[in-house]
Amino acid sequence: MSADPKHSRPAGGPDGAAPGEAGANAMWGGRFTGGPAEVMQRINASIDFDRRLYAQDIAASKAHCEMLVRQGIVSSEDGAAILQGLDTIAREIEDGSFTFKAALEDIHMNVEARLEELIGEAAGRLHTARSRNDQVATDFRLWVRDASDALDSALAGLQAALLDQAEAHAATVMPGYTHLQAAQPITFGHHLMAYVEMLGRDRGRLADGRRRLNECPLGAAALAGTSFPIDRAMTARALGFDRPSANSIDAVSDRDFALEFLSAGAILAVHLSRLAEEIVIWCSQGFGFVALSDAFTTGSSIMPQKKNPDAAELLRARSGRVIGGLSSLLIVMKGLPLAYGKDMQEDKEPVFDAADTLALSVAAATGMVRDLRPEVEAMRAATRTGYLTATDLADWLVRVPGLPFRKAHRATGAIVKRAAELDCDIAELPLAELQAIEPGITKEVYRVLSIERAVESRSSFGGTAPAEVSAAVAAARERYL
Ligand code: ARG
Repeated sequence: MSADPKHSRPAGGPDGAAPGEAGANAMWGGRFTGGPAEVMQRINASIDFDRRLYAQDIAASKAHCEMLVRQGIVSSEDGAAILQGLDTIAREIEDGSFTFKAALEDIHMNVEARLEELIGEAAGRLHTARSRNDQVATDFRLWVRDASDALDSALAGLQAALLDQAEAHAATVMPGYTHLQAAQPITFGHHLMAYVEMLGRDRGRLADGRRRLNECPLGAAALAGTSFPIDRAMTARALGFDRPSANSIDAVSDRDFALEFLSAGAILAVHLSRLAEEIVIWCSQGFGFVALSDAFTTGSSIMPQKKNPDAAELLRARSGRVIGGLSSLLIVMKGLPLAYGKDMQEDKEPVFDAADTLALSVAAATGMVRDLRPEVEAMRAATRTGYLTATDLADWLVRVPGLPFRKAHRATGAIVKRAAELDCDIAELPLAELQAIEPGITKEVYRVLSIERAVESRSSFGGTAPAEVSAAVAAARERYL
């Protein structure tokens, strides 16, 4: 089909496409006589999204230009004109006066073409010893590095919000759950601190990816390196990279850094989604453990009483976009032969979307956590059902009368059954009822059946005892903030 000459000319073809820009591409069109079909231009152009790389593209071009001058590959007059032209372009893009052209495909050629308009033929020297392949790999790494840093500090902000709540509620008791069935009493602060740890690992993954990302592809050129006497260490240094990448083929074909960002982002999105789901549960009428602020809820157009946790629900849902972005890029990359393939132009949108989604989700989570009002009384009341101190009773039977744990477990089960029959908590059963089931029980047992005691007793490192939680908050502040 592409052999059909009608499709290789800019004039409208039988598909009714509008004419594209007339003539061959000025950047690479030497061997072409006709311009691309309008459809070709639309599928090929990335400028609508990769314009977001403009700052990185200009920074990398400046570093490359300075190196070319230092190495005597470009004269200092031409170099000065190029640098000045690039600064002008950055200003034009920032103030909105720059005209992006789809015919120029991408950010790299849009910048270079404008440079030529501004400074003339010297602009053509900038692309010496460089290809768009190493250029885009460099720009995108710089972008992901910035996004990773921004996400890291946003996550520190979310951790700080969680830490403040955890500190204030280190001793606020609530039921802890397994299978979403009441399990053992915990403190609200302890529960929130679990998220501080999760986010700490997310930050660790981002930092880890950033370390591996920080190698400079510039100078790999198309795939094989260059015959010009370039200084790759100089450009790497100028752009804040730790070193130039070691293999030119790998440099232009690697997108691991984007995959790692998306992987870390997908796990983070899952964490945010779990937090969001808990908030949805906690603020539902069946629980009533927290109240959300007006700022992070919405009303219903028909039910006047409603206050819906939409921010939490959207946070929960948006994890899908990030997870989808990861699988999308994994699928783009799998089976691609080395080195660069145009498939790789599809690397950007999932990453941009994930970065935007995560930035907004983390900001919303931070706002919700900051504003959230724990309903201390409701949480405490919920600990009165579900026989939360049954494990404490079993442990006491092991510790005091010296029962084997299995036997203690069985006796406690029978006690729970009896309490259920009498519709009371185990702490409310008379001593005679307890002794009828296990004669070794004395009135001392009631001490371990209080919720406060149960929580205080779990003072093992990382446990829910209020003193442990306060210590964990202090340690986390040291570690993370
Ligand atoms: N816009 C392209 C991309 O994002 C830049 C690299 C193009 N390289 C090429 N050989 N056509 O991947």
